[in-house]
Amino acid sequence: MPAYRATAPGKIILFGEHAVVYGQPALAVPVFAVQAQAVASAAPDLPAGEISLRAPAVGLDGVDYRALPADHPLARGVALTLEAVGAATPPAVRLKITSTIPVAAGLGSGAAVTVALVRALSGFLGRPLPDDAVNAIAYEVEKIHHGTPSGIDNTVITYARPVFFVKGQPLEPLRVGAPVTIVIADSGIPAPTAEAVADVRAAFQRDPEGYRALFAAVGDVVNAARQALEQGDVPRLGALMNENHRLLQRMGVSCATLDALVARARDAGAWGAKLSGGGRGGNMIALTPTHGDAAALAAALEAAGAVRTLTTTLSPST
Ligand code: MEV
Repeated sequence: MPAYRATAPGKIILFGEHAVVYGQPALAVPVFAVQAQAVASAAPDLPAGEISLRAPAVGLDGVDYRALPADHPLARGVALTLEAVGAATPPAVRLKITSTIPVAAGLGSGAAVTVALVRALSGFLGRPLPDDAVNAIAYEVEKIHHGTPSGIDNTVITYARPVFFVKGQPLEPLRVGAPVTIVIADSGIPAPTAEAVADVRAAFQRDPEGYRALFAAVGDVVNAARQALEQGDVPRLGALMNENHRLLQRMGVSCATLDALVARARDAGAWGAKLSGGGRGGNMIALTPTHGDAAALAAALEAAGAVRTLTTTLSPST
């Protein structure tokens, strides 16, 4: 049996994080500059049924998935894949997982690892799962990572295209009218997504009316941003990013470091900037008018303390 390799990109949320958990729409795009990779290969020296995991980043060096706790994300991903392909006792497999996606940075590393793993394992077993099935498994594993995820991370990563996402609804592709260049800057503070989502829930329970109004305001920004993106109106998109960041601040999910990077991005000429993902740490994003300006903006953000920057360009839809 030949080895089977699969990859999955990172992601950023352009608009609508947190409110998306409460049924509002959100926009997200894949980031191809970073990726997770899984390679499944035959292991004739191991007993049938063994799926031996090698994932150096999390300290696994040849561990059968059944020896891990059932709620370990990799073990759960393997178990759900075997169930989906109907392989109770598969031939032994070695599964190596690597990733260039920074962990706990809001770039979807957990979801990307699952998507790559599911594709490599099901493909190796001769039953490559369709995107909908891959996405459903990645969503189940996301629940281990994040408690009550909306499903946006696994969706944008599985389908690897810009998405307009509403929880529980069929995927709507997002049209891009003009090239959009985005600088992604890492605050260097680990992004505690599960904690931020739980804190927003607690705040919502304390003040349901206030938070419902905030979520609805985010929903309006997202709908306007979708239109601006489709029309290729980058300055408007930037103004909407600024507005979204203000709403996220009011939700209590920004922090001084993210606010400082957002302010620096605007000073350095970005059309707009905001935190991206769960907040409290992780990444912020800034919208630059052209690719040339992106390098200067990235340098300004690094000088202001960002530990890493990435630049991604959304190409117009054909
Ligand atoms: C995390 O990338 C985005 C959040 O909205 C959580 C979620 O949608 O599951 C903060």
